[in-house]
Amino acid sequence: MKYKKNILITGGAGFIGSHSVRLMVNKYPDYHIINLDALTYAGNLENLKDVESAENYTFVQADILNTEAIEEIFRDYQITDVMHYAAESHVDRSITDPLAFLKTNILGTVNLMQVAKAAWAGELDQHVFYHVSTDEVYGSLGPEGFFHETTAYDPQSPYSASKASSDHFVRAYANTYGMNIKISNCSNNYGPNQFPEKLIPLMINNIRHSKALPVYGDGTNIRDWLYVVDHVIAIDEIFHNGKSGETYNIGGNNELQNIELVHLLCDLMDDKMGQPKGTARKLITFVKDRPGHDHRYAIDNTKLTTELGWEPSLTVEEGMRKTIDWYWDNQEWMDHVTSGAYRQYYEKQYS
Ligand code: NAD
Ligand code: TYD
Repeated sequence: MKYKKNILITGGAGFIGSHSVRLMVNKYPDYHIINLDALTYAGNLENLKDVESAENYTFVQADILNTEAIEEIFRDYQITDVMHYAAESHVDRSITDPLAFLKTNILGTVNLMQVAKAAWAGELDQHVFYHVSTDEVYGSLGPEGFFHETTAYDPQSPYSASKASSDHFVRAYANTYGMNIKISNCSNNYGPNQFPEKLIPLMINNIRHSKALPVYGDGTNIRDWLYVVDHVIAIDEIFHNGKSGETYNIGGNNELQNIELVHLLCDLMDDKMGQPKGTARKLITFVKDRPGHDHRYAIDNTKLTTELGWEPSLTVEEGMRKTIDWYWDNQEWMDHVTSGAYRQYYEKQYS
């Protein structure tokens, strides 16, 4: 075999997946990274311009629901391991179209595992199936406490219900068939290349255009923010050194109320745009709350930090500055992804 591993990364043209592809392609020249992505509205090959001509990188456009296409990819590239990111990932979209989430997140994951199981028959223990999941499967916290790896699942939105179901299927494949699986559940990611349906890039883009900043409810919901590059570093660590069959929680130790975060973004953007402090804050508009809006997510990442020595590398302020710098320097990227279908989505969601 030409390469030591042929790793299939699904959803590699999306936000987190593209950072993972970049890290793996650059860090492991002896691995072949095959990026499989359907290129939905969330997939964007512009995210990968800097690695697209690397010798150890291949892109294949395919849907994880398409069994024959996945079988062909396993055959053609002799896939040795999978890192599975592909998903429908936005809670608000799951409220309007839950079936799309069921199809991709549950059926798609099981379809992928079926193909992997057949391709790796007789040597399942030698191949890793890594499933990327979310802390939202644990439900919603009150003011106290944290999500641990042992916290009972209690998903509250169609998105988190679909991710919880896929996690259960992945564990079932380990228990029933002996598949060598690893799962990580992480908190809210942020950083370059995030599609502006999610809070942070949406606010940055709206501030840039002096548009209203829609804060759901009273803005006191709390999220823990994890810088996307720290996330994919953790995944690389778990993929190589985490225990088979186990779950690892990944969190940034950066809990903020939404309104505190929006204030921070406003102040940093005022700086960036050279406008008087307080200008962007005037754009804040409290809007109707999201139905079933989870109150708080917070992660206990002790297992990951003690077993594998991973730590988040940035404070939330450092991370937000880096993120704003990236969006400022890549306005073309934002202009491309906010043309066309995004406008209709925005109208429908926020009118
Ligand atoms: P994203 O929406 O930016 O990207 C998803 C990618 O999957 C896109 O490139 C899309 O084209 C692709 N895709 C969607 N449906 C597909 C299909 N049927 N077949 C093939 N490809 C398909 O998502 P993200 O934010 O990068 O999230 C990646 C993973 O991480 C998801 O599994 C998500 O549940 C999980 N996660 C995300 C966050 C977060 O804060 N963004 C937090 C925790 C967990
Ligand atoms: P989001 O980025 O959609 O991630 P998630 O729902 O997976 O946590 O939202 C983060 C938080 O920001 C969440 O509490 C909902 C809130 N929010 C707003 O207040 N306004 C918005 O326009 C969006 C998209 C989110």
